[in-house]
Amino acid sequence: MWTTLPIYGILLGVSVASVLSEKITVCQEGDNDLRVDCQVDPAPNPMRVEYEFSMARGGKETIINTNVSGIMADDKFRRDKAYAEFLDEDVIRLIITDFTLSENTTFMCKLSGNLESVFVEPDQLVPCSAISVFLHYSPLMLSLLFSLYLLLPSWLVAN
Ligand SMILES: *[C@@H]1O[C@H](CO)[C@@H](O)[C@H](O)[C@H]1NC(C)=O
Ligand SMILES: *[C@@H]1O[C@H](CO)[C@@H](O)[C@H](O)[C@H]1NC(C)=O
Repeated sequence: MWTTLPIYGILLGVSVASVLSEKITVCQEGDNDLRVDCQVDPAPNPMRVEYEFSMARGGKETIINTNVSGIMADDKFRRDKAYAEFLDEDVIRLIITDFTLSENTTFMCKLSGNLESVFVEPDQLVPCSAISVFLHYSPLMLSLLFSLYLLLPSWLVAN
């Protein structure tokens, strides 16, 4: 019985990790701002971070905010309508002020050459207060902690 337990621990850890592995989340702030959090793998060279947030509707892509030189945000997102900030070296947050999602929209973020995207339906948009701080923990770390927690009792018995 004790020999099978570690296997369950690992399987459970992996399934917890896959639930938490969303790298881009979209939610509505209380003051009607739309928030998009994007997590990417740490950049190999943090001095050269370039990011680009965009959205696509009906096959048309619109740039919301970027600091890639030579690329401009769409007119309707210029002048403080949208801004992005790094929460961490690998988590960037986009805020679109006073924005109501009215159509099915795919949000995308590109950071350090990685692309993440998520499809959002207006009536499935969640309030940001409902989203926990999971973004700050890497899914791998959570699953390792969780597996360790499950493995420890069997390790103690074995020794
Ligand atoms: C983009 O913004 C990040 C964070 O402010 C900065 O570190 C990076 O140098 C900027 N990249 C460019 C190309 O301006
Ligand atoms: C939005 O997407 C959902 C799921 O793909 C689809 O069922 C729905 O018809 C779409 N709504 C519109 C207005 O296109």
